[in-house]
Amino acid sequence: MTHKVLILPGDGIGPEITAQASRILAACQARGLDVEVEEGLLGGAAYDAHGEPLPSETLEKAKAARGILLGAVGGPKWDKIEDLAKRPEKGLLGVRKQLGLFGNLRPAITYPQLAAASSLKPELVAGLDIMIVRELTGGIYFGQPRGIEERDGERVGFNTYIYSESEIERIGRVAFEMAQKRDKKLCSVDKANVLEVTILWREVMERLAPEYPDVELSHMYVDNAAMQLVRAPKQFDVVVTGNMFGDILSDAAAMLTGSIGMLPSASLNESGQGMYEPCHGSAPDIAGQGIANPLATILSVAMMLRYSLDVPEMASRIEAAVGKVLDDGLRTADIASDGTRTVSTSEMGDSVLSAFELM
Ligand code: NAD
Ligand code: IPM
Ligand code: MN
Repeated sequence: MTHKVLILPGDGIGPEITAQASRILAACQARGLDVEVEEGLLGGAAYDAHGEPLPSETLEKAKAARGILLGAVGGPKWDKIEDLAKRPEKGLLGVRKQLGLFGNLRPAITYPQLAAASSLKPELVAGLDIMIVRELTGGIYFGQPRGIEERDGERVGFNTYIYSESEIERIGRVAFEMAQKRDKKLCSVDKANVLEVTILWREVMERLAPEYPDVELSHMYVDNAAMQLVRAPKQFDVVVTGNMFGDILSDAAAMLTGSIGMLPSASLNESGQGMYEPCHGSAPDIAGQGIANPLATILSVAMMLRYSLDVPEMASRIEAAVGKVLDDGLRTADIASDGTRTVSTSEMGDSVLSAFELM
């Protein structure tokens, strides 16, 4: 069966990095990957064209696609839109929610060639391989009530941090199963010393644990987890946490790999349909300069091949091609170090493509 793949370039550096990832996808098609690729508008680009960050046409295309590749959305141009529902970021959250993409996998892997590019000492990060499993369609991002309103003569802003047992259980199972396929260590990150919602989170994780006797479950408060991630990151194998803590910890973990430009992600629902995107944003500070690192987006294509299109050998070939290019000393500016050659976004794309074609 021919699957559909939807590419949503988005805003800022989004179109620059997805252009390179699309070339790799086309090379996979030339090697026999049976997919039909189309493009759509999301975020600020969609707002400018249709007055909506998630036009119904895009949502329909997204629902019909087995895999969606997203660049990034947002930027200062749209930060002043008064109606929050029209902001680019709401378009992204809308796709996640509407497609039920609750399971967000964010692998922080330090390529040995990049140990020197990390802001941490190379020996702390060399060989690092952490999988952050972030709940993506609940928690404080979506909880009701929320808003800004007048109370006692001043404005108050409020959000609701809420998880149901079933939401916790389904992300817990994703994390336990992931740990079973890896080093069998699962660390659940919460704030159970203060927040009821995470007392329940911890309880549900404990309740699941006997079903996965081969996995060693531990718990950590989020503030300590942030510290441990930069103190001794290799103690972690799989980390499972809620939407907001996962957002923050994955950006911190990104820096262990050398750059936020190296961290891909998969956001999956129960049927294996997924959206794939780099963990970083639209990087307005470097947009249009042709210097953004496209590797997180290219590695997101590899995740799509592995998790939604079921061609893991092609995924591994892309990952190996990225490794080869790094071996050759090619770097975008964000991962450059002594003795490496700095290349542009499209030159990086060229090199990964040639390496892929030789494999
Ligand atoms: P950001 O991730 O866009 O940028 C943070 C820093 O990292 C910047 O200095 C940027 O230049 C650098 N950076 C990011 N990606 C890079 C890459 N591929 N290569 C080299 N350097 C890179 O975060 P921000 O500045 O906080 O947010 C900018 C905009 O992006 C905001 O509108 C935000 O809402 C949006 N955002 C979108 C997503 C998404 O679409 N998934 C994720 C995060 C932020
Ligand atoms: C991410 C981003 C998004 C999030 C924003 C842009 C809505 O930061 O994908 O990490 O907070 O989930
Ligand atoms: Mn984020």
